[in-house]
Amino acid sequence: MSKGLQTFIQTNQPVIEQKLSTLIQEIHAPEKLKEAMVYSLQAGGKRIRPLYTLAVLEELNVISEDAAIVASTIEMIHTYSLIHDDLPAMDDDNLRRGKPTNHVVFGEALAILAGDGLLTLAFGIIARLPNLSADQKIELIERLSYAAGAEGMVGGQVLDILGEGKSLTLEELEQVHINKTGALLSFSILAGGIIANASEKIMKALQTYAFHIGLAFQIQDDILDIEGTSEQLGKTAGKDVLSEKNTYPSILTLIGAKEQLQKQYESAIIALEEVNMHQGILVEFADYITKRSN
Ligand code: IPE
Ligand code: IPE
Ligand code: MG
Ligand code: MG
Ligand code: MG
Repeated sequence: MSKGLQTFIQTNQPVIEQKLSTLIQEIHAPEKLKEAMVYSLQAGGKRIRPLYTLAVLEELNVISEDAAIVASTIEMIHTYSLIHDDLPAMDDDNLRRGKPTNHVVFGEALAILAGDGLLTLAFGIIARLPNLSADQKIELIERLSYAAGAEGMVGGQVLDILGEGKSLTLEELEQVHINKTGALLSFSILAGGIIANASEKIMKALQTYAFHIGLAFQIQDDILDIEGTSEQLGKTAGKDVLSEKNTYPSILTLIGAKEQLQKQYESAIIALEEVNMHQGILVEFADYITKRSN
């Protein structure tokens, strides 16, 4: 990872952790439910999505007191998606973020409800933001709803599950990845643009960049499932083959998957060049996404 991005993450990760902690502690909910929500939220993920939102603001030279809050709500929704993704009815995993999965500790009912709690909380928090305009908040809520829902992540998860044990075409798998992972990750990038009131030209470039980064992110996740160890990933490695999942390596081999990853990376960078943002933090972030080892 570049020195610049490392410094950015070292500075901003604690900001996100602090915000997440405050936001979750503030809620009035049954203790056991809160415990289950806090357990997964504070289990130590990489915080890539919230950091991306803040990175876009940094690139655009805009400071917003609400940015860290919006960023944290995306992490809440992402964490909910992981809790549900790990359930026995879905990927049936017992390790996540280096700890036993939510349902292993709290039982399936609480894990489902902790996920529901995190998902719905996110929208209420955005609605109450103190500094953004009503128009900005509505745009964030609308886009987040689509990214996380049936037309985005939830839809992608369905296609992923329905595809188990079947062989999808590359085009079909691309659709799964764009939806199950790309949509929410893309939103985290676009959210930075919305908060910064970016021009239409910049928003368009961010959208193209985000599309390719979202896809690249899941391709690398597929590669790491094969090349990584459970210890390094904090989740069970080698699960995709066991579950007969369609992945980039399963369709294209590891080498082919890596070529596709590079292609997505290059398309992302080209989008930045068009708006003269090809020398800043978003390039460093793209490098990190494609080369990360966990
Ligand atoms: C894992 O996401 C699930 C996918 C969408 C591929 P991350 O790799 O961002 O997981 P955490 O948040 O760091 O645990
Ligand atoms: C997860 O994809 C996408 C989500 C919406 C959570 P995976 O099932 O590949 O994620 P991991 O590998 O379990 O983190
Ligand atoms: Mg899954
Ligand atoms: Mg999974
Ligand atoms: Mg995976």
